[in-house]
Amino acid sequence: MSSVNEDYITSYIRDITPERTEQLKILEDYARENNVPIIEPEVGQLIKVLLKLHKPREILEVGTAIGYSALLMAESLEGDWSITTMERNPQMIARARENFMESGLEDRIRIIEGDARETFPHLTKEYDFIFLDAAKGQYMEFLGYAKNLLRPGGLIVSDNVLYKGMVASDDLVVRRKRTIVNRLREFLEYINNMQGYTSSVLPLGDGVALTYKEENLI
Ligand SMILES: C[S@@+](CC[C@H](N)C(=O)[O-])C[C@H]1O[C@@H](n2cnc3c(N)ncnc32)[C@H](O)[C@@H]1O
Repeated sequence: MSSVNEDYITSYIRDITPERTEQLKILEDYARENNVPIIEPEVGQLIKVLLKLHKPREILEVGTAIGYSALLMAESLEGDWSITTMERNPQMIARARENFMESGLEDRIRIIEGDARETFPHLTKEYDFIFLDAAKGQYMEFLGYAKNLLRPGGLIVSDNVLYKGMVASDDLVVRRKRTIVNRLREFLEYINNMQGYTSSVLPLGDGVALTYKEENLI
């Protein structure tokens, strides 16, 4: 499963996690059959709780893939919300677009096509909730933009930050992943010491970091 938690812990949490809706289950099957990485059920459940507590209106996601997490988030949002999601892979974009149309959410979920490192500088709107779930080695770059676009009182959720446990232990690091691991370590140290922000790293799924921007920060 992953090296972040013992398999029996992950299995147990998954067993008690409620079933997803029919559409999400179909997307989970598609993702499994086509090797598309999507958020784990327990991480999805955490995000749902955070959205219900935080009640964001403007959400930004980096890493759409087939639109699974965007649609999962949509289920927990109420009132006047919108999701902007960034993706660079044309096949993923086409599939996500179809999935958003199928749910009738194409007007509420907007895809920004292209490499987020190039499209981020064009964003000017502020967001209440930002979900980072794209190339792990680029989180520091994404954060540079995300910080400035996040409203005071807003939250950044970053997925896969413990990367199969490698980030926490040199014994697990495989050579070809060394650069990504070092970048993730730099990212985690940075968010934990960022002035005006409070962060927490959770050993859930592949590791999730929560970063809260203080209300009085401009
Ligand atoms: C883990 S998947 C996203 C999964 C999705 N959030 C979900 O749970 O349903 C990561 C996605 O990020 C995209 N990606 C990676 N780096 C990116 C970048 N720099 N700009 C835009 N998209 C990127 C990949 O093409 C991939 O589809």
